[in-house]
Amino acid sequence: MISKVLAIETSCDDTSVSIVGHNGFVFGLVSANQDLAHAPYGGVVPEIACRNHSIQLLPLISVLLEKSQIKLSEVDGIVVTNRPGLIGSLIVGLVTAKTLAMSLNKPILGVNHLEGHILAPLLSDESYAPQVAFTFPYIALAVSGGHTSLYLVENFGSYKILGSTLDDAAGEAFDKFAKMLGLGFPGGVRVDQEAVKGDYSRYSFPRSFIKEENYKFSFSGLKSSAHRLLMGMNEVEIKNETPNLCASFQEAIVDVLLAKLDLATQKLKIPKVAITGGVSANSRLRQRATEWSQKKSVLLQMPPLRYCTDNAAMIGYAGALRLNQGEKHDMNLGPSPQSWTYDFTSYVEY
Ligand code: KG4
Ligand code: ZN
Repeated sequence: MISKVLAIETSCDDTSVSIVGHNGFVFGLVSANQDLAHAPYGGVVPEIACRNHSIQLLPLISVLLEKSQIKLSEVDGIVVTNRPGLIGSLIVGLVTAKTLAMSLNKPILGVNHLEGHILAPLLSDESYAPQVAFTFPYIALAVSGGHTSLYLVENFGSYKILGSTLDDAAGEAFDKFAKMLGLGFPGGVRVDQEAVKGDYSRYSFPRSFIKEENYKFSFSGLKSSAHRLLMGMNEVEIKNETPNLCASFQEAIVDVLLAKLDLATQKLKIPKVAITGGVSANSRLRQRATEWSQKKSVLLQMPPLRYCTDNAAMIGYAGALRLNQGEKHDMNLGPSPQSWTYDFTSYVEY
């Protein structure tokens, strides 16, 4: 029986470690972002990300053990994100996890990063617990800098993809738009801050697939449309209009995300929704999702930000459940830029 695990997440640019129980209780979570290192480039630079992981990871584990007052000998397994992600970044986590597993003689398990996001709403800690009625099945929207996907979460380990973005992820669109406006990196939060002061109906941006009865997302048209609009404005106009531009751009993304959630809850007749991933930090998305859920009597779970952005707690929970089902990997476990074939199945309408 696996009681608690040490989990490592290094799939992109956040270094995160956690100790999590098999019931999703988080004993400790310590994370470090690398925003300052990537900011001059306006996006994540893979080589810089993996170098920073290798500098940050071991000190973070020491801090985690100190803070949680748990010894390495007390954990029953080592869990690590091994897919999907940036190869160099994943390797740093994997090598560290393997070394720990081998030296402590504990089982090791590689976890799909997206399974972590999907299960994040079920985590708990001293100051947070999900609503009691929030159980399987539910619909999960994972919306971050790397992903925009809608899932039917039937049960633990049984995940069907309803639809994903055909091009950019929503967070990527926020980041690229912020870069066009010179707002800095990471851009999503800056667009959010500017948008609070703006009028969301000032500019009309495209909302791809919004009226279609499918779960496809696309944000490249939105990005090109913003680019064309900015090309026609001078510097002063852009500066003065930044709040309105941000509010209008953000509204287009929020409209699309909520339209697909609405469609999924109605068609699948599952009135339970989780929104996770970095973009779920967006204040307008949170506000409108809450209003929508109240209007439509949907049980909405948006975990606190520490479990929405990339974190090792969600990885540890998925791994602890799998280890308890008898799954484990050996020292040949490798990184993969993509999900494995059987991680998710496609949703087929009957
Ligand atoms: O989940 P996450 O930390 O890492 C990835 O897996 O990508 O998500 C980061 C993304 C970035 O694109 C960032 O701009 C976006 O989440 N983000 C936001 C906000 N805070 C973070 N987007 C919109 N509004 C925000 N407040
Ligand atoms: Zn993520």
